[in-house]
Amino acid sequence: MSVLWDREALIRATDGKAHGDWSAISGVSIDTRTLRQGDLFVALKDVRDGHDFVAQAQNAGAGAALVSRLPDDAPDDARLLMVDNPLFALENIGSASRTRATDAKVIAVTGSAGKTSVKDALRAVLSDQGQTHAAEKSYNNHWGVPLTLARMPAQTRFGVFEIGMNHSGEIAPLTRLVRPHVAVITNVLPVHLGNFDSEADIASAKAEILEGLRPDGHAILNRDNPWFELLATRATSLGVTVISFGSHAAATCRLLKHKQNPTSASVEADIMGEQVLFKLNAPARHQAINALAVLAAAKLAGADLAKAALSLGRWKPGDGRGAHKSIRIEAIDPASAFTLIDESYNANPASMVAALETLRLAEPGEGAHGRAGRRIAVLGDMLELGETSAERHTQIAEAADMAHVDQVFACGPHSRLLYDALPKAKRGAWAENSAALASEVRSEVKPGDVVMVKGSLGSRMATIVETLMQISHGKKR
Ligand SMILES: Nc1ncnc2c1ncn2[C@@H]1O[C@H](COP(=O)(O)OP(=O)(O)OP(=O)(O)O)[C@@H](O)[C@H]1O
Ligand SMILES: [Mg+2]
Repeated sequence: MSVLWDREALIRATDGKAHGDWSAISGVSIDTRTLRQGDLFVALKDVRDGHDFVAQAQNAGAGAALVSRLPDDAPDDARLLMVDNPLFALENIGSASRTRATDAKVIAVTGSAGKTSVKDALRAVLSDQGQTHAAEKSYNNHWGVPLTLARMPAQTRFGVFEIGMNHSGEIAPLTRLVRPHVAVITNVLPVHLGNFDSEADIASAKAEILEGLRPDGHAILNRDNPWFELLATRATSLGVTVISFGSHAAATCRLLKHKQNPTSASVEADIMGEQVLFKLNAPARHQAINALAVLAAAKLAGADLAKAALSLGRWKPGDGRGAHKSIRIEAIDPASAFTLIDESYNANPASMVAALETLRLAEPGEGAHGRAGRRIAVLGDMLELGETSAERHTQIAEAADMAHVDQVFACGPHSRLLYDALPKAKRGAWAENSAALASEVRSEVKPGDVVMVKGSLGSRMATIVETLMQISHGKKR
């Protein structure tokens, strides 16, 4: 077992009391379903109380459990660390983790869209240059960030943390825990508007990430975003150096050329005076802009820029974030396939427009029996848009790249407006929810088609992706 934390260090970090026979833990877990042998199981209170799962965790091989009370079903010799509040204790372990990682250069990423894309790309790029720690998933909230910190090995060279929010005041305590050398704000977009009075308030909430920056830190800000000036002014007033990125002529990291291919792009950029040329396995322009922030952050964290650009060329965006999958429809013809662009993970008006652009750039295949493949958009609701929701959904129907879409399938009450605003010829089908739409899409997709699936997480568009994936497993339609 490799030791992540020993008993004494955990007692010191949490001010807790240890029970039972254990001397160290090798990982940290909050979920018994994914818990690994030797993990510290943290009994958090969420939908259910983690204390109800302590016995299960110990049976699954937990090294110890972080609890505020002795669970009813726990044996007398249970391996425990007793604290007043397990969530606060997790934060304290996170803070101790940050302090002990003296060799680590730490990067924090926030923004309305692209946080996980940037975090994942940074993880891929930095892993090629030194021991890198970042969460597997989004893990960007009040428990995700402390959990990711607590899991960071002491000898980490690069730590990358995604920080998200739904309300103002949520980012500040998390960035103070992470204490980044470099903070990235990918962009400020009108999402989660439901919780804010204005877009300016969203910008201010994102700016909170600057509050945790170390005094010698750098803020990487989107020069093309209308909120750049506000964010830059905040950064400067905190004594932080601003590095900007985008297509803007004044950007410190500037996009010089972006040549889009069906499933990739070649990019030329100037990163703080150094020219780089790299490939991206994502054609969408916003991914190239994200890449500028990735390279800037890597460079500021002490990584080699040319090597980082090479690594970026090998990186692929993850499931639901623009990954292209070519799916064979074996039930019809063993040689035929359609392309699935899986954007199902999340959506807002800006990323919806970007995904339509990606769909336009994709090239449909030949199709069977002499008919050409089509571009098909499968769209779910964009949620949390507050009062602007109706208008923003109708605007998607009017987006320039919608002209290149042959068929639109939509689901959910908000997308109904989008669907109704489309010319009749483009309307494939509308359904109440994604489960109902899945079978409609499934029976419509033909060889050669390119199908792009996108919607907010809450509209569960992944269901449709899963249904389409099943076609490749030879199931008859
Ligand atoms: N710079 C960008 N501008 C617009 N859309 C983007 C940008 N970067 C990524 N996207 C799109 O937004 C969606 C979400 O991407 P990603 O998961 O990287 O964002 P996130 O900020 O981590 O989201 P979440 O708040 O759900 O954690 C994807 O469909 C992705 O293609
Ligand atoms: Mg994310």
